[in-house]
Amino acid sequence: MVLAWEYTNDGSDPLSPHKPEPMKFIEGKELKERTGVLTWKLDNDNYEQQLSEICLKRGYSGSDVLEMYPELSDDYNAKCEKFFTEHLHPDEEIRLWIDGAGYFDVRDPKDNWIRMQVEKGDLLILPPGIYHRFSPKPFGKTAFKRIFTEEPIWIGHNRPADDHPARIKWLEMASQQFQGIEVV
Ligand code: LAC
Ligand code: NI
Repeated sequence: MVLAWEYTNDGSDPLSPHKPEPMKFIEGKELKERTGVLTWKLDNDNYEQQLSEICLKRGYSGSDVLEMYPELSDDYNAKCEKFFTEHLHPDEEIRLWIDGAGYFDVRDPKDNWIRMQVEKGDLLILPPGIYHRFSPKPFGKTAFKRIFTEEPIWIGHNRPADDHPARIKWLEMASQQFQGIEVV
């Protein structure tokens, strides 16, 4: 299971690598019903087969790799800042971590944060319209595959984007516990 827990900002640095005590972990089923987010832990050293099955079933056709290495990317800090600014997308966001780790935060319908610790082998599928943010900073570096259908469109709308049709749809689906989202 991808590690996910209720994250309450107690005023400390949201990127400090601490975890609150007691931790209240959230199982995949609950995560899906509350947020529409799907998670998989793929076999670390042999994920290609599993990944291509998932892509085939869900109709994903392309991917690229985004690397965030402090020593190699000049824009490491700029990227961290951009991704840690709360935003949403009009399309699904599909990410498979292939190196390093990070914190991926998503909002539930009550506007509470759920934090996931993502690492190599973790696959996330976020529904369109969910507010989220990501940072590798507590762990340093990371790299992930970005998976898409047809042409990749990496438009992020920073919060507030409450009038965006994808946001309105997400709230509507949340009220029905994301019954329409299929785990294929
Ligand atoms: C993105 C992430 C990291 O938009 O949220 O690429
Ligand atoms: Ni995003």
